[in-house]
Amino acid sequence: MWIICLLLLPLVAASSNTRLLNGILNHVDKEANPCENFYNHACGQYNMRHMDDTFFDIIQMLDHQVNQNLVKVMDDLELSSQSPDFNVSSVDGKVLRYYLSCRGAPRNMDSLSEYLKVISPGEGLTWPQFIPDGSSWPQENFKWLETLAHLHRYGLTNVFFNLEVVSNPRNATEYMVELNTPTFGEESQLPNSFIEILSVLYVMKVPSSEIITLARKIRTLELSLKTMINPIDRPNNRYISIRDFEMETGHNWQRFFEILIGSSAAPELQVLVRNFRYFTSLKELMDKQDARLVASYIMTRFAIFLFDETTGGRESAECVSQMRRNLNLAASMLYKERFFEHSAFSGNVLEIKDIFEKLRHQFLLQVDQNHLELTALQKKFVVRKAEAIEINVGNLPKTDNLRQFVGQYYQDLQFPTGELDYHQLHLKVLQFRTQKMLAQIQQRALRGAEYFDLQEPSSAIASTSYYVMRPNVIIVPLGLLQEPFFQLESDDVFKYSLMGYILAHHLISAFATEGITIGSDGNDQPFRSHRFEEAVSCLSRNADNIDETMGDIAGLELAYSTYAKMAKNRNRLDFTHLPPEQIFFLNAGQFFCGNSDMLVQYKEDQVRLQRAIEGFEPFDKAFGCNRNKPQHEKCRLW
Ligand SMILES: *[C@@H]1O[C@H](CO)[C@@H](O)[C@H](O)[C@H]1NC(C)=O
Ligand SMILES: *[C@@H]1O[C@H](CO)[C@@H](O)[C@H](O)[C@H]1NC(C)=O
Repeated sequence: MWIICLLLLPLVAASSNTRLLNGILNHVDKEANPCENFYNHACGQYNMRHMDDTFFDIIQMLDHQVNQNLVKVMDDLELSSQSPDFNVSSVDGKVLRYYLSCRGAPRNMDSLSEYLKVISPGEGLTWPQFIPDGSSWPQENFKWLETLAHLHRYGLTNVFFNLEVVSNPRNATEYMVELNTPTFGEESQLPNSFIEILSVLYVMKVPSSEIITLARKIRTLELSLKTMINPIDRPNNRYISIRDFEMETGHNWQRFFEILIGSSAAPELQVLVRNFRYFTSLKELMDKQDARLVASYIMTRFAIFLFDETTGGRESAECVSQMRRNLNLAASMLYKERFFEHSAFSGNVLEIKDIFEKLRHQFLLQVDQNHLELTALQKKFVVRKAEAIEINVGNLPKTDNLRQFVGQYYQDLQFPTGELDYHQLHLKVLQFRTQKMLAQIQQRALRGAEYFDLQEPSSAIASTSYYVMRPNVIIVPLGLLQEPFFQLESDDVFKYSLMGYILAHHLISAFATEGITIGSDGNDQPFRSHRFEEAVSCLSRNADNIDETMGDIAGLELAYSTYAKMAKNRNRLDFTHLPPEQIFFLNAGQFFCGNSDMLVQYKEDQVRLQRAIEGFEPFDKAFGCNRNKPQHEKCRLW
């Protein structure tokens, strides 16, 4: 037995190495010169290999696999629900119920009016469009801010203003409400396209003779909001109590917060208001508006919000995705239980933490060389913060009993029994999700090893890793623990070039332009360094997203130097005669591969990769590129 195990072990490793390597080589276009255009070389065959795929890149492919796997979990749950022992009020029962209601749901724009009949703009009030012919809409009963408070309870935001729950920038051990101007989409410069507004009004059965006029008025209202946001205004942010906020702006904020968060909305509750002047001007604007128009506008935005929340059909994979969006903690638990043996999971976690440990060590060596000429105090600050960074694999809470924790977490989510009604269940879930987010205001903020992220729907459905700034934590989703992204048994060259690269990217972004102004305690802390600013301006010469660029460039250098140091006594690999350096850069580069049909994303990724390797000496050496040709000067960060 022992001998067989010992013999098999290297075999497993060898086969995973070969498999990973073949996967990499499959995407390479040997005709394209790596020194001229590395993207074309590393990703040249990507399109060919993924012609019929529904996903765009490697991360989306992993997500696709996660969804397929979760469909299996749901099928199993459905089967076990036939047994008399199945507990419908357990997490499994709730997840299954939501999933099945999605599977059987009518899904079209028409169903939006079903929601809007259930959710009214206020006590004893319906939306103007649902008033029976002949009667008039009692507009004196309509209070726009109260209506917004009701709809915020379902997660609507960014209408007239944006509301978020954030870590208090002065004291990261607590959360607070942050109010800000609404954000407007880039393309149309307005939140919604005209067509979108028209179609919502149409579905809402607004008489066709009024649709165009109403849509135009909505447009004008949005434009006047937009002109109130003056981008050249100096930032004017204020920490203010609800009471004072109400007094200074003339809006009934006390009532708004009572509806939103209930009795804990004391007049003394502090909120953070960004762009304070906007909120004083808002009063003037709103006083002039026709109540019917404002109600119609809010209704339109809410309908669009609900529609965006439920897009996708009722196929199994789409409903699994819907479930991940809204019940993400339960989804992670089920996924982990089903696809990771306890020991396999901890093996993965240990290895990822070990990789990060090596990266951190290398980073601290670089900091110690002090190229940026930091003061002793600044150095200490960087070291302390780097040492405090934690990794949460799977975005799971720190607990010995995950099932129990998750059961308690979803305790307040109660679904009505009886026939499955997707609209009803979905509204419950939206409300639950928002309550969890708002409840943080009353709780101590989790930090470091205790932290797990109440994810936004967009991050809940993506296997993208990310760094959460104030808690100082890197989240590595479970979806990344699959081939080709990460394979425990594989050679370091694979591990350090992908998992290592993205971890290094996050480590660097903890000290990019935003992160460097936040201390290891999560609080704002000014940081001034001439050399750092020089590096930033050098890097931003041809980049819009400077923090991302820093991660791409300095992260690659960090991951590579960490790997090179570990592998320095080894100049060849036993499963290939390709030099390890080439494999390293190919694997790292292929993180950026994507389908060229998605042109904008494709071009952006191409630029990102090219910037990361340009002028990087080990890269030129690995591929024998001629360094004599004129190079852009490499901007040095750490
Ligand atoms: C069913 O699950 C709920 C919630 O986890 C629990 O409180 C209850 O005791 C369970 N019922 C049975 C019969 O196990
Ligand atoms: C930070 O917030 C916590 C929780 O509200 C509080 O106990 C603590 O005193 C605050 N610290 C500072 C420095 O204000």
